Amino acid sequence: MSINRKPIVVGNWKMNLSLSEATGLAYELSEQLEDIAGVDIDVGIAPSTPFLSIIAAICDESAIGISAQHMSAHLSGAHTGESSVQQLLDVGCQYVILGHSERRHVYGESDEQIAQCARLAHDLGLIPILCVGETLQQREANQTLDVVLKQVSSAFSQLTADEASRSICAYEPVWAIGTGHTASPEQAQEVHAAIRKHLSELYSVAIADSVRLQYGGSVKPENAEGLMSQPDIDGALVGGASLKVNSFNSIVQITSKLISQT
Ligand code: PGA
Repeated sequence: MSINRKPIVVGNWKMNLSLSEATGLAYELSEQLEDIAGVDIDVGIAPSTPFLSIIAAICDESAIGISAQHMSAHLSGAHTGESSVQQLLDVGCQYVILGHSERRHVYGESDEQIAQCARLAHDLGLIPILCVGETLQQREANQTLDVVLKQVSSAFSQLTADEASRSICAYEPVWAIGTGHTASPEQAQEVHAAIRKHLSELYSVAIADSVRLQYGGSVKPENAEGLMSQPDIDGALVGGASLKVNSFNSIVQITSKLISQT
């Protein structure tokens, strides 16, 4: 983690939690993270779409940011089941997760769609969290960097340098998501360093140095320190461990402590 980049930890709640569980978790997190969220570290949570507005209202007084998990590649119109970027802004979102592996692999989202969403998100002022990552098969075939860097090129393809520097990119190896198998700190750092180098070629070293790169894939309190202390890892996108107040809180605390020691 670098002192120049403010770390960011985002909890991706996916399609979990009842309304009362989600509101309870949001209240507890707002209380427990009151002193550090937004100060040493940016913290976000990504509830399911129907709960965005109510969770945003609960977190309104805190510095916890609200993220959508998905958005439409269109501005408005006949797109049943989708949410537009303006609608997400209207209910209090600051971030949107784009190209999560579940969206790519289960719902067939293409690189082009993700690039289009990133463009629209910046047009209206939502910060995209651009997810990239290889499957186990691709890793075993030695294609990790080819796959990941191609996804990065595409996700950033319609963004100016300034927009790129305000975007967040999350490296999430597909084989590590929800499986309990985490990339080792060295494996994660290798890919993060390659992403940053690639961004320096697409834009400039200064822009690449300002983009925050999160790691995601079975992050938990037990492995957070090793991962978050890597020089090119600036935070985490947390799935399962973000559903419990204690585990998410401790990942945030560990990440924030590491930066204050840098
Ligand atoms: P996980 O999910 O932490 O449960 O592996 C991460 C993610 O999908 O963003």
